[in-house]
Amino acid sequence: MKSKLIVLLKFSPLLFLIGLFVFNLFNYGVLDDPGKVLYKHYCADCHGENGEGIKQLIPPLKNSDMALTHFDSIACWIKNGMSHQITVNGKVYEQTMYPIKINAVETANVINYISKEFLQSDKLTTSAKVTEQFKKCTSD
Ligand code: HEC
Repeated sequence: MKSKLIVLLKFSPLLFLIGLFVFNLFNYGVLDDPGKVLYKHYCADCHGENGEGIKQLIPPLKNSDMALTHFDSIACWIKNGMSHQITVNGKVYEQTMYPIKINAVETANVINYISKEFLQSDKLTTSAKVTEQFKKCTSD
């Protein structure tokens, strides 16, 4: 038991350095945040690389009051899509977002990316939470 502890202590600076290295890879964009990769692939065509939306057609995600106040609904919007009149940051939109076919882990990653990058929020979700939310989605 004691020797295991000593081994662990011996290697802890090494583990720390490896952790720091991986963290930096993410930070300097060598490894992309999985949420960012998913966002670019599944959402950016409509909502824009920087979440700016497209004129009157596609609402922005950047500082979206709707997304922030209904944070727990985003998972269902992704799963089922959305097509009714909405107001985002004072502007009315009425178009269709089709369901996006990604799983709970991917959905959680993309929501966390949006939260951090576009909503400047520290709200986070997990795949377990998303799985629960998926079960309770009403249509639209
Ligand atoms: C085909 C274009 C399209 C794609 C792709 C798309 N959306 Fe949307 N999204 C829309 C439209 C259009 C609306 C508004 C729907 C309405 O008016 O009812 C919307 C609404 C939203 C909203 C609520 C309004 C707001 O701006 O806060 C969120 C959040 C959102 N989308 C997130 C996503 C995420 C995350 C993805 C990728 C996983 C995604 N969307 C992919 C078109 C799209």
